[in-house]
Amino acid sequence: MQQQSTTIAHNALPPPPPKTVARSSRISVHSHIKALGLNQDGYATSDAAGFIGQTNAREACGVVVDLIKSRKFSGRALLLVGAPGTGKTALALAISQELGSKVPFCPMVGSEVYSTEVKKTEVLAEAFRRAIGLRIKETKKVYEGEVTELTPTESENPLSGYGKTVSHVIVGLKTAKGTKQLRLDPSIYEAILKEKIVVGDVIYIEANTGAVKRVGRSDAYASSYDLESETYVPLPKGDVHKHKELVQDVTLGDLDAANARPQGGQDIMSVMGSLVKSARTEITEKLRREVNKVVKGYVDQGVAEVIPGVVFIDEVHMLDIECFTYLNSLLESPLAPTVILATNRGKTLVRGTTDIIAPHGIPIDLLDRCLIVKTDIYNSNQIAKVLQLRANIEGLKLGTGVIERLVQEGDARSLRYVLQLLTPASILASLAGRPQIELEDVSELDELFYDAKTSAMLNTR
Ligand SMILES: Nc1ncnc2c1ncn2[C@@H]1O[C@H](COP(=O)(O)OP(=O)(O)O)[C@@H](O)[C@H]1O
Ligand SMILES: [Mg+2]
Repeated sequence: MQQQSTTIAHNALPPPPPKTVARSSRISVHSHIKALGLNQDGYATSDAAGFIGQTNAREACGVVVDLIKSRKFSGRALLLVGAPGTGKTALALAISQELGSKVPFCPMVGSEVYSTEVKKTEVLAEAFRRAIGLRIKETKKVYEGEVTELTPTESENPLSGYGKTVSHVIVGLKTAKGTKQLRLDPSIYEAILKEKIVVGDVIYIEANTGAVKRVGRSDAYASSYDLESETYVPLPKGDVHKHKELVQDVTLGDLDAANARPQGGQDIMSVMGSLVKSARTEITEKLRREVNKVVKGYVDQGVAEVIPGVVFIDEVHMLDIECFTYLNSLLESPLAPTVILATNRGKTLVRGTTDIIAPHGIPIDLLDRCLIVKTDIYNSNQIAKVLQLRANIEGLKLGTGVIERLVQEGDARSLRYVLQLLTPASILASLAGRPQIELEDVSELDELFYDAKTSAMLNTR
């Protein structure tokens, strides 16, 4: 592998860290939300892009999107206020979708800053770095084509008596122009197995690093299988061995983390050390500045493009005065993402103070920077529509009267509450051997679980 002259190496990156389960599941309940659903003039049609109602808030968010796109929103923040389950998180997600498909969206909850291991301000700083994307374009030498042959060659392992090992692998690659047979290292065979590559897939192998990437299934095979999840791609043009422009999306947070990891020798102690440390490596301000410098270099050379994303801080009233002050300074920094805050509190004490009561528990100097958008409570009709949408997405069938019954519950409690009933109800239904959710499943749920209000009444008696 080529050695970079600088100490910051983006192509030394490990595969992007898997998004934690908590973060992705926080988004998956919003998977029906595709955008803000506004027309060309910025008006919201009552139901569009998975959004039901909430037209005022959606239009207001549309204005914010325009401001962000014309770069007139820097140093400011959007504050969403409204009761729980009225779509604040959904709006934030929709804004990031409006900004572009590869825009990083980094959600966090105010209380996440209270960790015993990391400084509060550090948690915020990290979230801001993870919300700034970098698209790196590089031209690399690759072997690309449709796999025509995949044959591992085994041989006796000379070092031990434990059977055979793969000594090399023969890979045949085909393009519109010709075919080439490659004899490759066993480590590449492992990568091929990991990517679950089979004959008929279009892949490329980076010549320098041996990294293997599956592009999709060759469309010559499209007729024989009808898998929905499959992406079919045409047979690559040109030679098998060629220069290809590769696009890699990372965030500044990824770069910080990759460069903070100790890159010591190969001995066992340093491996152990890095295992332990990688759980929480020290990322210093100095390292961030260095990363910034290298990133700026890439941008100036036209190799990379900065894509500011969205930081979403839910339950922002959980932050304390120290965090709010730091947030002010983060908003001022030249490389700041769009900041969206959300809360369901009215006037309340600012955390970390004993006497400052402020709207939403946010100090006035930060409030002054905020555009505030309020979300409204849903009516029965709208609750019914969202329920039906979610049922469709989750592939659940509802029997007669079920929607009406759930809407009643939703009116009494909240939209979030009834949406959460769908999955347990479907489990009860399938346990009882029913193909769809029936009224008795919903009734059984009522016997099994309490909603918050009933529960509170029971406990205070
Ligand atoms: N107007 C809407 N149209 C469609 N789905 C909605 C709408 N508002 C909320 N939802 C869905 O209802 C659930 C709760 O909304 P959420 O955004 O988490 O509320 P909040 O953040 O205000 O507490 C989510 O699954 C969300 O996608
Ligand atoms: Mg929320």
